[in-house]
Amino acid sequence: MATNILEIHELNVHYGDSHVLHNVSFELKEGHLLALMGRNGAGKTTSQLTISGLLAVSSGEMRLKGKNFAHQSPESIAKSGIRLVPQGRRVFASLSVEENLIVAEQKTEDRSKWDLSKIYSMFPALQPKKNQRASTLSGGEQQMLVIGRALMGNPSVLLLDEPSEGLAPLIVQEVNHSISKLKNEGLSIILVEQNFSVAKSLADDFVILNTGRVAFKGTASEVDAKPDLATQHLGIF
Ligand SMILES: Nc1ncnc2c1ncn2[C@@H]1O[C@H](COP(=O)(O)OP(=O)(O)OP(=O)(O)O)[C@@H](O)[C@H]1O
Ligand SMILES: [Mg+2]
Repeated sequence: MATNILEIHELNVHYGDSHVLHNVSFELKEGHLLALMGRNGAGKTTSQLTISGLLAVSSGEMRLKGKNFAHQSPESIAKSGIRLVPQGRRVFASLSVEENLIVAEQKTEDRSKWDLSKIYSMFPALQPKKNQRASTLSGGEQQMLVIGRALMGNPSVLLLDEPSEGLAPLIVQEVNHSISKLKNEGLSIILVEQNFSVAKSLADDFVILNTGRVAFKGTASEVDAKPDLATQHLGIF
């Protein structure tokens, strides 16, 4: 059985006076893809931002390979191998495609797998456009570029926040295909995904949040055994 690469334990997070995450606990296994689901406002983005160090932890622990990083800076969390592709895909619009990738490059002794040529072979559409400004790319290409930028940091954990939001169906398929290739490369991934059937096609494990609390967590086969889950927690009928 795979070991836990990331452990979130009894996490509480506030926006000012507003208590948004309530004792959230879950684990990501090495090489697994975990689908983080829940209705709008459930706390998915808040969880991803907190794991990336961009929101302060009120209490609880977050451990990467056993080491608590709950109070580290976003820079040090990124250096230790956790990379976020935020909701809303923002490229550096005035930089070229290749410059967007190069500025994100980070190699470490134990993680040096990704470079420009490997990114271009993962996302072939980017290579012929490498000297174009990032702002000239289509929505799908911009999504590939922001994922490529995260990969240039040679992450061991990749956090993806609704990568398919607002993309045309064919492009969504392409992005999902790339995500499954990344999983096959052995990357550990937390994917925030609204589409339950997409999540079921990609994920090994599921966490469903409901108003900032874990409403369900389990493996793909445990999800299959509970056909009422989607109606209960995701508002799908
Ligand atoms: N900057 C903020 N200040 C105050 N409250 C916020 C802020 N951002 C989010 N919230 C609140 O925190 C809760 C969780 O929001 P979050 O964005 O994490 O949800 P989400 O599950 O990602 O939703 P969506 O599916 O719409 O992206 C919501 O009640 C939201 O209104
Ligand atoms: Mg969100």
